[in-house]
Amino acid sequence: MILDNHNRPINYLRLAVTDRCNLRCFYCMPEEGIQFSPKQELLSFEEILRICTMMAQMGVNKIRITGGEPFLRKGLIDLLRDIKAIDGIDSIAITTNGTILHKYLEDIIDLGINQINLSIDSVDPQRFFQITKRDVFDQVWSCYQTLLESPVHLKLNAVVMQGHNIEDIIPMVALTETEDVSVRFIEEMPFNGVGKQAPLIWDYKKILVHIKSEFPKLEKRADPPGSTSLNYRIEAYKGTFGIIPAYTRSFCGSCNRIRLTPKGIIKTCLYDEGVFSLRDLLRAGASNDELSQAILQACSHRAKDGFEAESSRKGKLKIAESMATIGG
Ligand code: GTP
Ligand code: 5AD
Ligand code: SF4
Repeated sequence: MILDNHNRPINYLRLAVTDRCNLRCFYCMPEEGIQFSPKQELLSFEEILRICTMMAQMGVNKIRITGGEPFLRKGLIDLLRDIKAIDGIDSIAITTNGTILHKYLEDIIDLGINQINLSIDSVDPQRFFQITKRDVFDQVWSCYQTLLESPVHLKLNAVVMQGHNIEDIIPMVALTETEDVSVRFIEEMPFNGVGKQAPLIWDYKKILVHIKSEFPKLEKRADPPGSTSLNYRIEAYKGTFGIIPAYTRSFCGSCNRIRLTPKGIIKTCLYDEGVFSLRDLLRAGASNDELSQAILQACSHRAKDGFEAESSRKGKLKIAESMATIGG
């Protein structure tokens, strides 16, 4: 088990398999897109499997596949099958925008992958279009409906943004009345590929007050260890809702995550600028022992929270990356 310098066990790898995306959610990247990486700069499947196997031996037991949109990476199902076979990996989860998932869902279910987080920022097609800049609401909604019928544990992710989707908060909580789904509202972060962000209006407290004004009978649920979301349930409702203080960063004290970007950079906090290139080390011929020592070294110098990580950025003090290049 990896223990960091603040005594936090690290057992959860967030693995971003591509920086490409077929949507242009404005809070993630500009409409013209970002500079996507050429294939040779991405970790190959062989490299990813070597790293995952090594990390599993170091105590990582959960891997979440992110992107960009992970299903845009060709051959993803083969990679998932190989990750699934690694000794010690008990849980594989995927965060997706749901636009092309239907093509792969049967394979996913056959592989026994049953945790999917689906990004959907609005239940109104027009607002969805304004946010994502693509006319694909129907595909995503149909993906949601299909997932509800499947054995998958489903979470919906909605970034809350003044002037864009406040009207969606209450209807999205209402989805939990009859559906066994967890709807999570996320504070907007500055990882938008532009580097500018207006002051945060909808922080987790304001989101909760807003929900309480419509649903006074809500109960706090226990938050699983390492959870990013503060979880609640409306009395007698089937599903739950959560609020993720991603910008307020109140959950750093129990953070159990390490991140690998599509280009193989290790991040020990979402807000750091990348600690070192595991890919370069690996391509320079490092042994597994050397690779795992480098990971342990990074984990023994981890920032205590996202604020410390942000202020220790040496290059650009301002966060300007797109979420798609770092995996979220
Ligand atoms: P599970 O706990 O496995 O369900 O994953 P998750 O909710 O953390 O993952 P998901 O990919 O669905 O991310 C939801 C939101 O939480 C996204 O906006 C992420 O960027 C944010 N998030 C995930 N991990 C962290 C983290 O370590 N720090 C911060 N500040 N935000 C995070
Ligand atoms: N702030 C908060 N969440 C974001 N996501 C993408 N960009 C941002 C941002 N700037 C979310 C996506 C997805 C998850 C991986 O991260 O909506 O659900
Ligand atoms: Fe694509 Fe997700 Fe970024 Fe939206 S938030 S542009 S779906 S990677």
